[in-house]
Amino acid sequence: MSGRLADHTIEQNWDAYSDDEHAVWRLLFERQQKLLKSRACREYLDGLQRLGVAAHGIPDFRRLSDVLNRATGWRIVAVPGLVPDDVFFAFLAARRFPSTCFIRRRDQLDYLQEPDVFHDICGHVPMLMNPVFADYMQAYGEGGLKALRLGHMAHLARLYWYTVEFGLIATGDGLRIYGSGILSSAGESVYCLEDPHPHRLRFDLRRVMRTQYHIDRYQQTYFVIDDFQELFDATRPDFAPIYREISMLSDIPAEAILPKDRKYADFRPHKKEGPRVSTARV
Ligand code: PHE
Ligand code: FE
Repeated sequence: MSGRLADHTIEQNWDAYSDDEHAVWRLLFERQQKLLKSRACREYLDGLQRLGVAAHGIPDFRRLSDVLNRATGWRIVAVPGLVPDDVFFAFLAARRFPSTCFIRRRDQLDYLQEPDVFHDICGHVPMLMNPVFADYMQAYGEGGLKALRLGHMAHLARLYWYTVEFGLIATGDGLRIYGSGILSSAGESVYCLEDPHPHRLRFDLRRVMRTQYHIDRYQQTYFVIDDFQELFDATRPDFAPIYREISMLSDIPAEAILPKDRKYADFRPHKKEGPRVSTARV
């Protein structure tokens, strides 16, 4: 790791967690396990299982990094909280995931605006066990450094928000969750799939980068991808001309619907038809 990046890291200091902090982790973990079994995407559940991410308490990042590194070459680094954008992107570009160390208090189990160790580790890290998603995150880091140079951070941040943090994926069995902000929230993991209120729209790169978001409430709109390869491919082109194109267009409010939007209910019947035999089970 370069010196500049290393400067922003701290020691996790795993031995210093109290019994009560581990107990809060277990509470969160067990609650999410029950909710996510039927709601999270297969890639997440696989990743979580292969990490053996501690049902027992807050995991030690060193142990976790060893498993993660063997799978996809990523590592976890401990940081004190939100780091500056350029540092954050440089970490991702180097396949380092910056994780906070503190855990929320018992009176904050349901919603927290800032990331804590449960969100970072239980929400993000299992997805990094998936090779395609792992590459997407690295590409996003490189794209972030470029967006900063071009002055288009606000556009690119929305892509992160609506995919990495709040993304949904269409599967043969229905909608599933892959966004970490949802995966670490008991209320939103039910709301995003089952509540009639929010819009669930087909992912479209330009549409996503124009869409505003709220950080202090459940989302009004979710964007649905078909698979991670599709997401990776859609974000591969050079964004410079796309940024120029969308800067001429207005931002879209979080709750708006445009005539061209495709709702999940409408595009679902056309995809992945026929009985699907899961090779994983035979
Ligand atoms: N292709 C993008 C660019 O040229 C980089 C990127 C990749 C951004 C993946 C986000 C996600 O800026
Ligand atoms: Fe996050």
